[in-house]
Amino acid sequence: MRFSYVTLFEGLIASYFEDSILKRAIAKELLSVEFFNPRDYTLNKHGKVDDYQASGGAGLVLFPQPLFDLLRSIKHSSPEAYIIFPTPSGKLFTQNDAKRLAKKKHLVFVSGRYEGIDERVIETFADELFCIGDYVLTGGELPSLVMSDAISRNIKGVLGNEDSLSMESFESPLLEAPCFSKPPIYESKSVPSEFLKGNHAKITSLKNKMSESKTKYFRPDLFSRFSAKH
Ligand code: ADE
Repeated sequence: MRFSYVTLFEGLIASYFEDSILKRAIAKELLSVEFFNPRDYTLNKHGKVDDYQASGGAGLVLFPQPLFDLLRSIKHSSPEAYIIFPTPSGKLFTQNDAKRLAKKKHLVFVSGRYEGIDERVIETFADELFCIGDYVLTGGELPSLVMSDAISRNIKGVLGNEDSLSMESFESPLLEAPCFSKPPIYESKSVPSEFLKGNHAKITSLKNKMSESKTKYFRPDLFSRFSAKH
């Protein structure tokens, strides 16, 4: 998988890859990461990329020319490039999207800053628009990272242990059961005693019950979908 990030702030994204599981995936050549700065594509001598909104109103918008030239050149050298714009007005990004996009060869994430990106860029180049949650961030860099992290862990070989993929929350319709480690009692709080007895059928059944109660409590929306099917 090739990830390209179009951003004015490469450092925000690059630092994540210095210290994560994804660093190992890059070393194993399962992933490659590259950056494109719209400022390098401006025709004005000051490297200006933003301007006032045509409609008036506060805030600057990234104007079309640098992004058109940049994205055209990416598409020209990599026709399979699939272009994603993170934006609060996109559809909600889910685990299904992460799995589906993990099958692509080349994903391009275009991060806006300021008030946003001129709509004509989006109209011309977007394959998909995604929102990562109902809140507004100061730019597209964090959402791009969130999505690329979720996507890359679905690429074969990126996680050391492929089992960790199939058992986890959102792979199943319920949230994951709580997990515990050693010691059995810590500050008078105990690991559920069933977990310590080694009967795997009983442990699984208890974990399923815990999953259900946790989902019912924290995510009633997921729980009703689950109940409707079971
Ligand atoms: N840009 C700013 N906020 C965002 C969000 N919640 N999701 C995706 N892109 C964004």
